[in-house]
Amino acid sequence: MSNGTDSRKTFIAGNWKMHYTHTEAAALAARLGERLDTGGVRVMVAPPFTALQAVADALRGSAIVLGAQNVSPEASGAHTGEVSCAMLAALGVRVVIVGHSERRHVYGEDDALVARKLQAVLAAGLEAVLCVGETLAEREAGAAEAVVARQLRAALGTCSAADLRAVTVAYEPVWAIGTGRTASVADADAMHRAVRAVVAGMTGAAAAAGLVVQYGGSVKPDNAAELLASPEVDGLLVGGASLQADSFIRIVASSASSPLVDSCPGN
Ligand code: PGA
Repeated sequence: MSNGTDSRKTFIAGNWKMHYTHTEAAALAARLGERLDTGGVRVMVAPPFTALQAVADALRGSAIVLGAQNVSPEASGAHTGEVSCAMLAALGVRVVIVGHSERRHVYGEDDALVARKLQAVLAAGLEAVLCVGETLAEREAGAAEAVVARQLRAALGTCSAADLRAVTVAYEPVWAIGTGRTASVADADAMHRAVRAVVAGMTGAAAAAGLVVQYGGSVKPDNAAELLASPEVDGLLVGGASLQADSFIRIVASSASSPLVDSCPGN
């Protein structure tokens, strides 16, 4: 979790993936809006495209931020099945997840496409959660940090330090997503340091020090506090455990039980 040396605010996001009709999603959003005490924590939910309007309505008046799971890099035109940044912004979306490992590995999105999406998001005045992470084979080959560095350089290559203020990086080891296997706190900590070092080399130490870096991959109510207790882990990107109000609320609440919370400015 962010500590007293910087202004990073804890950021916990729920990625609902391809779950829930718009009616079901609105019901979950309404439960979160009523019961979730965001405190000093930034909280986002990213429902499917078809539920964005209903969830926006359900969250009206709540501090929970509306996110989207994906976007087209194109502004408009003949792009069947795609959704533009302007369409998302018009629904009240403030943050877009780009480069999720399911987009990269199941739907074939390469670094260049992820970079174009990130640029489109920033150009539209939206924020991005940029997902990076290595596969198990890449980790076992000792290439985890090199893979993540490549993904960061490709996506953030044209970003200024000012652009970076609208970017959160989510480190999500592919082998930990939906598998029940979580990276050890030490592994997450080491990779988050590596992320910050790469970004420092690109846009300078100050921008890197302010960068919020989330961890994602089998985050549950039982391991969230331990992960957030690391000074390098500024937040969480939660898949499966964000699909029930109780477990997501417990994860958000666990940031308050971190031993470092008292030293966090803005928390
Ligand atoms: P998970 O998904 O929490 O279900 O592992 C995380 C993610 O894909 O963002």
